[in-house]
Amino acid sequence: MRGSRISGFYRLPVETRRAELGARAGLGPEDLATLEAGGLDLTAADRLVENVVGLYALPLGLGLNFVINGRDIIVPMAVEEPSVIAAASNAARMVREGGGFVAEADPPIMTAQVELGGVAEPDVARRRIQAAAASLLALADASVPRLTDRGGGAREIDVRVIDGGAGGSACPRVIVHIHVDCRDAMGANLVNTVAESLAGPLAELAGGRSGLRILTNLADRRRVRAVARVPVDALATPDVAGPRVRDGIAAASRFAEDDPYRAATHNKGIMNGVDAVALATGNDWRGVEAGAHAFAAARGGYRPLATWTVDEAGDLAGRLEMPMAVGTVGGTLHAHPGARLCQKILGVRSAGELGMVIGCVGLASNLAALRALATDGIQRGHMALHTRAASLAQRPVSDRHHPGPVALAGMTTAKPDEEVV
Ligand code: MEV
Repeated sequence: MRGSRISGFYRLPVETRRAELGARAGLGPEDLATLEAGGLDLTAADRLVENVVGLYALPLGLGLNFVINGRDIIVPMAVEEPSVIAAASNAARMVREGGGFVAEADPPIMTAQVELGGVAEPDVARRRIQAAAASLLALADASVPRLTDRGGGAREIDVRVIDGGAGGSACPRVIVHIHVDCRDAMGANLVNTVAESLAGPLAELAGGRSGLRILTNLADRRRVRAVARVPVDALATPDVAGPRVRDGIAAASRFAEDDPYRAATHNKGIMNGVDAVALATGNDWRGVEAGAHAFAAARGGYRPLATWTVDEAGDLAGRLEMPMAVGTVGGTLHAHPGARLCQKILGVRSAGELGMVIGCVGLASNLAALRALATDGIQRGHMALHTRAASLAQRPVSDRHHPGPVALAGMTTAKPDEEVV
């Protein structure tokens, strides 16, 4: 990989962009042919889901300028919304001036839930289950032998007793959580298998009957954290000086901390980037969404997933933390050549690395949105891009390049003569 900073990329025709990507990401003609075909053919689609009648396409673009833990990374993003890719790229360029993103990921622990009902003595059940933890973990491992071969497996069991109450049932429920190291898989199928294989023995130990047996999407043991520092001068727009932009972003962040209505929109801006990469890499973005919003609400109230403050040096400091249940093996990935190609472009070696990239793109998307909101507002660039999309729809593909930097600025509030990405 020769770097994620590709000056003037947006001005190039699509064919030249592909050639540039091929050279930088080490892609061969067969990889580029996958791009041409939209990443998926009808036969593969027919194997993936049911009742297939066709394919449904989305634009695939490249998030540029990302430096994550000292490495340049080109980020494939699948998204229909104008501005998202240009905005993330522009924010990544500002963060690059502060040394790039620093990210870390928890071990890839996913959690299965087994619900036990009709338990007369929940505390006795809890003690029995805890006493049998070692044999239950061994049983769980035996249900997923290929995972244990890869070094993963069941790690811990805990038991919660939750009051009945919903729907008038007064009966407490015993909920058993089995925490499973899923290695580089997203892990839904693995933990569902574990939940189903332990349900019978758990019901017996508890003296009750098993109810639901399924993963939780609140994957709060599998979080990513990303931080970024933007030198104050890098934040300036043509009309607004860096310190004012910085203070506006920090104030917008506090607004999201104080108000769930604003936090929902703030987090939506983060998910613009998160979902685009999750989708491009063949991951279950609905699961990531569910985990993100449950986590945002898990500590009382609904909170922003990322916040921005002014650091001691007067620069802008951002921090994101969220669950990140994504994988680099299994599931859709094997069946979807486009998803495999996107992972090749990223060059990530593990699910944890992929999660870190996704977290950084979420933080970049958030920075771009807050910078625009704290200065020009979102509509100027946004509407320019909508207009561009509408007018380009009338023109042949060969003409559809170089819309001009102002139109491309989108959420980025770039100077008219500034290179946007
Ligand atoms: C639009 O897709 C996302 C924003 O609304 C995010 C935000 O307000 O922070 C611009």
